[in-house]
Amino acid sequence: MLTLDALKLTPQNIIPFLEDIFERFGEEENLGESVTMAQHMLQGATLAEQEGQDDEIIVATLLHDIGHFTSNLGCFTLEDSMDRGHEEAGAQTIERIFPSIVSDCIRYHVAAKRYLCATSPVYFEYLSEASKHSLKLQGGEMSKTEVTEFEKKTNLDSIITVRYFDDLGKSPDMLTPPLGHFFPTVKRVIKEY
Ligand SMILES: [Fe+2]
Ligand SMILES: [Fe+2]
Repeated sequence: MLTLDALKLTPQNIIPFLEDIFERFGEEENLGESVTMAQHMLQGATLAEQEGQDDEIIVATLLHDIGHFTSNLGCFTLEDSMDRGHEEAGAQTIERIFPSIVSDCIRYHVAAKRYLCATSPVYFEYLSEASKHSLKLQGGEMSKTEVTEFEKKTNLDSIITVRYFDDLGKSPDMLTPPLGHFFPTVKRVIKEY
């Protein structure tokens, strides 16, 4: 696994970094879902783009699970008995390069699942089996106090939006453009590119 120190990401090397990480890890890891990691993130980003979402939402969806590859703790499996904190690892990896709306959507995409489970009666049933399993490891649905705190987040609407694209990007049949299709969007969102 890559380490944060080793990455030394800059606005100039983020594109080759993404190419490398998708190529090396994208096809191998599948999180217990019926799609590979690369398909999962590309599908979510494609759906966000098709819906005409802002660039920040498309990029956050494209990169939301990148922490599975940048964490020393490795990738989630259905056999896990403890959470690996990929959301924090992912946010830390990219937060120097992208605006806080992008890192917030990545940092809180698991919290958003816990939030939606607590506030939407049908949301849990709509989750994939792998996501239901990881929910238990991630603390289950939020308490009322946690919900109140979470609703104070500056980028709440964007965080929830990315969460929905995360949940939608799990179709074994959906075709997407390649990663490079999203590079112009990534570049537009990078700070000081
Ligand atoms: Fe995730
Ligand atoms: Fe995901």
